[in-house]
Amino acid sequence: MSEGKKKGKVVLAYSGGLDTSVSIPWLMDQGYEVVTMTADVGQQADNMDEINQRAVNIGAVTAHMLDLRRDMIENFIWPGLKANALYEGVYPLCSAYSRPIIAQALVYIAHKEGAVAVAHGCTGKGQDQVRLEICTNALDPALEVIAPVRDWHMTREDEMDYAQKHNVPVPTTVKSPYSLDDNIWGRACECGVLEDPWNKPPKGAYALTVDPLEATDKPSVIEITFEKGIPVAVDGKSLDCIELIDTLNKLAGAHGVGRIDMVENRLVGFKSREVYECPGAVTLITAHKALETITLSKDVMRAKSDIEKKFAELTYEGYWFSPLMEAVQAFVDKTQEVVSGTVRIHLYKGQAVVEGMKSKNAIYRYDLATYSEGDNFDHSAAVGFIKVWGLPIKTWTQAHTPKEATFERAGDKKLTGGSCAKAS
Ligand code: ARG
Repeated sequence: MSEGKKKGKVVLAYSGGLDTSVSIPWLMDQGYEVVTMTADVGQQADNMDEINQRAVNIGAVTAHMLDLRRDMIENFIWPGLKANALYEGVYPLCSAYSRPIIAQALVYIAHKEGAVAVAHGCTGKGQDQVRLEICTNALDPALEVIAPVRDWHMTREDEMDYAQKHNVPVPTTVKSPYSLDDNIWGRACECGVLEDPWNKPPKGAYALTVDPLEATDKPSVIEITFEKGIPVAVDGKSLDCIELIDTLNKLAGAHGVGRIDMVENRLVGFKSREVYECPGAVTLITAHKALETITLSKDVMRAKSDIEKKFAELTYEGYWFSPLMEAVQAFVDKTQEVVSGTVRIHLYKGQAVVEGMKSKNAIYRYDLATYSEGDNFDHSAAVGFIKVWGLPIKTWTQAHTPKEATFERAGDKKLTGGSCAKAS
C-alpha cells in the first residue's frame, strides 16, 4: 500500500456488498487511491449511510453517496415510459436504466475528484458491464474503466479469504441463491434454480409482489393522470415522481401485478431466464399505452411502435448515450405533447386492466364512432372510398387468374325453399 498513490484516483461504484467491498483493497493493491460512489436508485438496501461509512472503514479516501432517484425517474424512466419501452415486448428495462445513470454518476465524481479511472463490480458474463463501460466511454473516453471482479479470478472462498485478510466485513447473512438487482422501476432475479426454464420460480424468487392466486379478492380501481406522457397524479392527488411510483409499486404489488417470467436474448449472445417484478412499471405502461390510443393519430402510433422497439433495444444494449437514442427520444417527446388525460385501471389477481380513459386532446369521436343516434359518419362516402381503396386489388385480379374461392372440408348443409311462393 506504500505505493498506493502512484496510479491516481479511481472511483468505484460501491453497493456495500462483498464484491465491491473486496474491490476496495484490491484496487489499492493495484496502486490506486480509492474513492467510492454509492447510488441510491430506490433499491431495497441496508441503511445507505452505513454503506457509505463502510467504504471509508475499509479504506476509501472519500465515499460519496448520491440520491439518484429523481434524476433516474425524470431522465431515464419517464423517457422509457413515454416510449412504452419493453425489451422483446415484455421486460420494462429496470436494470438497464440504472446502468447509464450510474455511469453518469461515476464520471461526475471522477471529474470532481480528478480521478483517472472508474471501477465497477460486474462479472464478465452480464450485460451490466457492457452498459456501464459503453456509457462511461460515451461521457468521457479518457477515463479508464476497471472491472476488478472480472479480472481478479477469485473463487468465492478466495474472496472471503481476501476479505478477512484486508479487514473487509464478510456478510453474516446467507448469500441469496439468485443474482438480484433492483431499483424503483423493478427487480430482476436470475440464476440458481431459475436457470432451468422448466422450473417454476420458487416463492423466494419474488419480493415485491404477492402470488396472484393469494392476492385479495377485492379489486382496486385507480385513476392515473398523465401530462404530456408523464404520470402526475393518482386518484386525482398530485404526487411527486418517487411517491407516485412507490405508491403504484405497493398497490399493484399487493394485487400480484407485474410478475414477468421470461427467457430473454442477451446482448452477450446467450439466452437467459429472468424473473422480474415491476408492479408500478407494468401498471403505468398499461395506462400510458391506453391514453395514447385516444390521443395519437393512427400513423403516429404505427411509426412510434417501430421507434419504441428501437428505444428498448438501445437501452438494453448499452446505447443510452448515443446519437440515435437522442434522435429517438426527440421523436418520442414530440408525440407526447398531446398525451394528457386520465386512465382508470382495475387491479385484480395479477392483472392491470384498463377500464376507462379520457383526454381533452382525444381524437376519439363519439359522433363518428357511434352506431346509435347522433351518427355523423358519412355512410354514402363509403361507396367511393371502397372503389378507390380497393382499386389496386381489383386491377391486379383483372390482369391475373384470380384465386378460386373454394372449400374442401366445409361440407354444405343445403336446404331448398321457395315452393310456397310458387304455389300462391
Ligand atoms: N437481464 C436483465 C438486464 O440485463 C437484468 C440484469 C440484472 N442484473 C443483475 N446483476 N442481476 O437488464
